[in-house]
Amino acid sequence: MKIFKACTMEFETKAIRLQTERTQQHEHSTPIFVTSSFVFDDAEHMRALFANEESGNIYSRFTNPSVREFETKMAALEEGEDCIATSTGMAAIFATFASLLQSGDHLLMSRAVFGSTFKINDDYLLKWGIQYDYLDPLDILQWETVVKSNTKLLYLETPSNPGLDIIDIKAASAFCLQHNLLLVVDNCFATPYLQRPLLLGADIVIHSATKYIDGQGRVMGGAIIASKGIIEKIYPFMKNAGPSLSPFNAWILSKSLETLAIRMDRHCENALKVAQWLESRPEVNFVKYPFLPSNTGYETAIRQMKAGGGMISFELTDGFSAGKKLIDSREMISLTANLGDTRTIITHPASSTHSKLSKEQRTEAGISDGLIRLSIGLEHVNDIINDLKLS
Ligand SMILES: Cc1ncc(COP(=O)(O)O)c(C=O)c1O
Repeated sequence: MKIFKACTMEFETKAIRLQTERTQQHEHSTPIFVTSSFVFDDAEHMRALFANEESGNIYSRFTNPSVREFETKMAALEEGEDCIATSTGMAAIFATFASLLQSGDHLLMSRAVFGSTFKINDDYLLKWGIQYDYLDPLDILQWETVVKSNTKLLYLETPSNPGLDIIDIKAASAFCLQHNLLLVVDNCFATPYLQRPLLLGADIVIHSATKYIDGQGRVMGGAIIASKGIIEKIYPFMKNAGPSLSPFNAWILSKSLETLAIRMDRHCENALKVAQWLESRPEVNFVKYPFLPSNTGYETAIRQMKAGGGMISFELTDGFSAGKKLIDSREMISLTANLGDTRTIITHPASSTHSKLSKEQRTEAGISDGLIRLSIGLEHVNDIINDLKLS
């Protein structure tokens, strides 16, 4: 299936106009190809497709036009050569590790990553003979002390979930070039609209499309964007192990990309206002938001991101009891285990997303017991602030 080529267009136009070739029905909006398998003209056609002598769809675990449309858009928006879509963000992370690491290899990972990413290391990589070490995301000199001769891959999240640590992707890329490592960046919080890690030297970008890519809290999905060579190494895992994205979810995600830029602009505008308001309040110890000048990573953030994103974390002076009171006093803001939605969401990472980590691991990842995470939605900012009853 040919994809309409629009690669020289601007971000917003590509997100809207890259589309599966029109069918004989002359539809305007892109159709959904909800089918498990595809038919062959005859025995010779079937043989040629299975022998990879001709390209075409065989079975939706391998390829599907709706999924391919989403993959093509994600590759274009991240300015990568190719993309593999997955059923979830975690499937994208797992498929990358399972395909590119082998027994005897060593992985370096930032201490500040999403909770389930840690669990992959402990529960799977170790039993397959893959060792790992965590690094301090903000102390690049310390990285030299943990890199080993068998280290293959460096995995980062920037901004990180939930601490919003900012890592200098260019500096990380220089470190990886020096040590011959693949640099993998989870770009979930920023989205390709705000940050394009491949242009800053990363080799692989990972997404949980469940978040801002969908943006409306409806479907799960993930994506891996990289060079054709790297994607070719990961594709067999996808094809054979099967964490493929469903055509329906791919269609939703592809439609959602059409509004990503405009949604992200409003998420960023609202979040900056809420972050500034929180910073002015005596009940708050500190506020973490990439585009607040008081933040440690501010200089790097303004260099590598277009705007600060929709996520804020902050700590209340009176610790978790005040946090609990704040969460229980809200009337509009949702208490739910997701982020990147049109609706503002509040969470307490220590008792939810990062509860499986030990207290020491949480402290190392910058997650205090009183840390509150806000995913700022698209409601009017006055209503969001009014629902945050700090005192
Ligand atoms: C930064 C980050 N990466 C990956 C994931 C995992 O994505 P999913 O829930 O789609 O598997 C999440 C989920 O919250 C996340 O926040």
